[in-house]
Amino acid sequence: MNYRHAYHAGNFADVAKHVGLLYCLDALKRKDAAFFVLDSHAGRGIYDLQAAPARKSAEADRGIQRLIENGIGTAPLADYFDAVRARRGKRLARYPGSPALIAAALRPQDRALFFEVLPAEARATAREVESAGRIRCEIGDGYAALKAYLPPQERRGLVLMDPPYESLDELKTLLRAFADAYRRWPSGIYLMWYPIRSASQRRQVHARFDALEIPKMLYADLAVHPDDAGVGLAGSGLMIVNPPYGTDEHLRRAYEAIHRAIAATGAGYVEVARLTPERMAQ
Ligand SMILES: C[S@@+](CC[C@H](N)C(=O)[O-])C[C@H]1O[C@@H](n2cnc3c(N)ncnc32)[C@H](O)[C@@H]1O
Repeated sequence: MNYRHAYHAGNFADVAKHVGLLYCLDALKRKDAAFFVLDSHAGRGIYDLQAAPARKSAEADRGIQRLIENGIGTAPLADYFDAVRARRGKRLARYPGSPALIAAALRPQDRALFFEVLPAEARATAREVESAGRIRCEIGDGYAALKAYLPPQERRGLVLMDPPYESLDELKTLLRAFADAYRRWPSGIYLMWYPIRSASQRRQVHARFDALEIPKMLYADLAVHPDDAGVGLAGSGLMIVNPPYGTDEHLRRAYEAIHRAIAATGAGYVEVARLTPERMAQ
């Protein structure tokens, strides 16, 4: 595997994913009861945006950094800017990955488990977030972790699945792992990230989720280039299963704000819609 998230941390797709993640974590905190988070593809916890990989790709410059310049003060993004500690006019040095965002959101009664296949990345995450058994990061396959750890004893919580999509089979693997996890824990919130590379590929991703016949699926797609621009990553999507109340409206407003700030040419789009209904027909 060649993928290293340090080259991509803070790009528009990372931002979009983290905005969705934060909303769902916040929603879980509407109740006092403890919740559990499983992050199956954790990465390295915190990213140094001044280090060589981020400087080389400059993806964060066109992502979080441009968003700070053009979008700070935008109401639907306020919690996100707080979480990444963005300040007007300041370059962001450290960008929190999903483990840092999750760890910061947990209350004393909540638990999180992170899986990362690359030992160096997993160790970096562990150093950043581990705390007395409540938050753990393990080196290993996140898909296998879903089998091993779901359903959680708390019976409420969320699963984030954010693979690198380096292999052509990744979506198939993710769908299989998700369908199996859902059978064992149908009330969990699931967030699954996917790339948008072309209009037909996006339709295919939606169709393959739809074919699972699982209710309460919401997709939130944000593109900053035309789907068929041939730029590699035109956009990105989040498939959210069992989205908390208000997710649709929040993500629509937040993604429109990101789109306005980042897609300077006005290219691309925001589409937030239900893929499957509240109940499937018998
Ligand atoms: C897109 S990055 C994760 C970014 C992170 N979720 C975030 O939002 O900050 C994907 C990560 O998955 C790791 N990975 C790839 N295959 C994996 C697997 N089967 N199980 C666990 N981690 C895996 C990669 O090494 C990479 O660090």
